[in-house]
Amino acid sequence: MKILILPDQGDATIRAADMICESMAARARTVLGLATGGTMEPLYAELVARHRQGRLTFADARSFNLDEYVGLAPRHPQSYHSYMHRHLFAHVDFAPGATALPDGSAPDPDAEADAYEARIAAAGGIDLQLLGIGRNGHIGFNEPTSSLCSRTRVKTLTESTRAANARFFAEGEEPPTCAITMGLATILDARQVLLLAFGAEKAPAVRAMIEGPVSAFTPASVLQMHRRATVILDQAAASMLELREYYHTVHPDGAPALV
Ligand code: F6R
Repeated sequence: MKILILPDQGDATIRAADMICESMAARARTVLGLATGGTMEPLYAELVARHRQGRLTFADARSFNLDEYVGLAPRHPQSYHSYMHRHLFAHVDFAPGATALPDGSAPDPDAEADAYEARIAAAGGIDLQLLGIGRNGHIGFNEPTSSLCSRTRVKTLTESTRAANARFFAEGEEPPTCAITMGLATILDARQVLLLAFGAEKAPAVRAMIEGPVSAFTPASVLQMHRRATVILDQAAASMLELREYYHTVHPDGAPALV
């Protein structure tokens, strides 16, 4: 794992946007794996700004999102379809039909999950997968005890995840209890993964992911098995890492490695 610790979230977001631009420049028809959540909002704002400045195009790219709530139609304001439209798709130049999320309103969510996994494979797999991390160590909606070999499927959300995401829902509205999510093996298949984590509240999960044992109890720890995984942190999210000074030495302020 490459651990980049940046001075603050703003610097970290710029570094992540740079990596996405590099990856898209290196491969004309990039397949992006996208995530939602608070962590991604400034990143998408940065990508939109670069697109408006003529520095970034999505015209030849495709995308697959990690997850979607079961029971929310794409047009529901809290669906991840709506989130992606609001924060990215409406403002950049993906070709029609080039972006995909699981359909949370599908009559048979299990069949929808299987079909989504097959669509990713048919697209040739994911080149660069973006990830956030939950306070309980989830990636996508792979909650603790998710199989390390899991594929896209329906997962029941933990109460802690539903409580964390309640902030995105209107008062009196409850987050759904289940989601369709790419599995941990689906995520590991991506040719490169980029996980972002900011703030002290993520520090225990970040520590468990990077320095703890590989364990289904901390699903993000499976990234220790990935050959090209980069983690971009701010100082607060990195604050509990035992080898923090070492990561700083290898990548001072998130810079490329010293030789
Ligand atoms: C979102 C997702 C989740 C979030 C995680 C962090 O598509 O898959 O794993 O990345 O819950 O969410 P925030 O960024 O809101 O803290």
